[in-house]
Amino acid sequence: MKKNNRIAGHPVRYFQETDSTNARAREEARKGAESGTVFVAETQSKGRGRLGRSWHSPAGSGLYFSLILSPGISTTDLPKISLATGVALCRAIRGYVENPALKWPNDLLLEGRKVAGILTETIPRQDTASLVIMGIGINVNQCEHNVPAELADRLGTIQAAYGSPLARGKLLESILNQIDALLNQAERYGFTDILKEWRNHDASRGKYLTWLTTEGETVHGLSQGIDEEGLLWIRDNRGKMHEVISGDITIGKAG
Ligand code: BTN
Repeated sequence: MKKNNRIAGHPVRYFQETDSTNARAREEARKGAESGTVFVAETQSKGRGRLGRSWHSPAGSGLYFSLILSPGISTTDLPKISLATGVALCRAIRGYVENPALKWPNDLLLEGRKVAGILTETIPRQDTASLVIMGIGINVNQCEHNVPAELADRLGTIQAAYGSPLARGKLLESILNQIDALLNQAERYGFTDILKEWRNHDASRGKYLTWLTTEGETVHGLSQGIDEEGLLWIRDNRGKMHEVISGDITIGKAG
């Protein structure tokens, strides 16, 4: 039985600077750090994004943190944990801004611009459930001149949508509470309602998508939304259905 049924956010390990909170969490998980531990950094020198990208992590304005989780769910449900985390971000951010949206698998968009990303890594273990490292990066109060020029037209900040700077500590606390609530919900009742909530935030619902597969192939088609496994489906112009397991999605006919 977990203490107070709390899964996410205790204890907190804070770094003024580190290379990547995901790297710290992974290293400490291997050394036995307990599930629920959160690693927070003021800035990251090698912040990592999905698909081998980097995550720009300036000091003083963003939130960069990673959780070690050992959720009591089956291995087949593990990929849904990152969708649940996207829902947790939406719930927390709705305290400040209306209409947060999610782009599969879990980019958080405000007014069509990406404000947060999630990098999920798993550490398989022998004879016991895998550990999950859940890394979250959020552009909270960044100024425009702090965003790399090549990303300026696609990245947003919560501050820009909210209208004034936010207290990052309060936002972090609220996100951890929501992750905790959603993981408890998933453990008790499964993911059906969580995926429903994800669909309510689906930024690509009914829209034309471009999917760049990890093999470098490009698929254009209409989004069919996510299925019960949390996988995205696209119907291409010839009517063929494609199940998106990984890769990159762009909303619109780009690519
Ligand atoms: C994405 O590509 O959208 C995912 C970005 C995830 C960035 C966060 S910042 C905190 C944690 N540490 C990392 O190195 N990456 C994640």
